Amino acid sequence: MSQLLLVNIKSLQGIDESGKLLKKGSEMQEWETISNAWLLTQNGCIANYGEMINLPQAYQGLPQHDCDGALVLPSFIDSHTHIVFAASREEEFVMRIKGKSYEEIAAAGGGILNSAAKLQNMSEDDLFEEAFFRLRKLMSWGTGAIEIKSGYGLTVADELKMLRVIKRLKAAVSIPVKATFLGAHAFPLAYKQNRRGYLDLIINEMLPQIAAEGLADYMDVFCDQGFFTPEETSELLIAAKQYGLKPKIHGNELGYTGGVQTAVKHNALSVDHLEYTGDAEIEALLNSNTMPVALPGCSFFLGIPYAPLRKMIDAGLPVCLASDYNPGSTPNGRMGFVLSLACTQMKLTPEEAMNAVTINAAYALELSHEFGSITKGKRANLVITKKVNSLAYLPYSFGEDLIENVLVDGKIIFPTQSF
Ligand code: NIG
Ligand code: FE
Repeated sequence: MSQLLLVNIKSLQGIDESGKLLKKGSEMQEWETISNAWLLTQNGCIANYGEMINLPQAYQGLPQHDCDGALVLPSFIDSHTHIVFAASREEEFVMRIKGKSYEEIAAAGGGILNSAAKLQNMSEDDLFEEAFFRLRKLMSWGTGAIEIKSGYGLTVADELKMLRVIKRLKAAVSIPVKATFLGAHAFPLAYKQNRRGYLDLIINEMLPQIAAEGLADYMDVFCDQGFFTPEETSELLIAAKQYGLKPKIHGNELGYTGGVQTAVKHNALSVDHLEYTGDAEIEALLNSNTMPVALPGCSFFLGIPYAPLRKMIDAGLPVCLASDYNPGSTPNGRMGFVLSLACTQMKLTPEEAMNAVTINAAYALELSHEFGSITKGKRANLVITKKVNSLAYLPYSFGEDLIENVLVDGKIIFPTQSF
């Protein structure tokens, strides 16, 4: 039996024994803590916790880690990333500085198509090595479960290549990795005048092969202006459902384009981006099980509006935050920075922001029965911070690396052991 006792925790954060699988509206402010605490992990799970003054005598001989004034939190869960890519795109960043918009660059064959051209020329092994490096970096920054999308292949062979890389990543790390098929990320140049042809390719060629090899957990579509229409998205989601792939949608990043309503109609697990969310979208989400996911790093980097999360929480919705790490719109996956943006730009309290990157993010990946809170029996994927005074210091001190150690399945894997 493997056991580790964390002692002298300044504050154990994010305790929840209510059994809730997500938090919505005013519940998002609920964030239980114990000061001067201990926590016992056993066989990869959280076995018990309490106050130092009540530490059972029987635990005192167990292997211990002294947290010495640090906070202990549930790991961050990043429910939306594109970390398999071939190259950075800083030339587009400079084009935007000089006045071009994200959509103009995409329409001229840049953007996603630029990334696809580069990925098509890179081997599976090289893609794996680079993505593995990024994944380890994210883990060292406290990400304890992650979703990774395809979508820079855009041919049958290259979408399969990306998904095989994600499958290898799943096997290479001990944190949960969910794979999402995003062949409907953009229409390839060869299909610009033949949209029907690309939809058929996804439905008749890509989906059956992906299902046969068991390469994806979810199906995503970029349902937005200049990309896939709600009708095209619906057709693709219905086809994917026949292969057991639940929807997770990119929607309402570029306009009020029906992405949210389409996601809700198909009972999507989540709808992500939401920079353009009005009353009609909020109403649709209130009557659904679909988790709204905001990606503030994208708003920061592209200079587009932030999703109106304050309004959404006040209307009673749950919200989730994710990084969207990708080479075009968000070349960074640090969840600590996502927390800072949520607090400074979207006016979430630190507690609301933490719930958005833990329990609600776990819900968006169907992991909240096992991850996302300090709960007896849940997996011990935890973050030990550096010495800080309070939870609010984490988003307040933006850009600073405040993580001292990371635990996966009750083992300290960063920085003392290799992954
Ligand atoms: O989530 N918006 C669509 N897809 C990605 C960006 C893709 C890219 O520009 O490479 C996103 O922001
Ligand atoms: Fe994305």
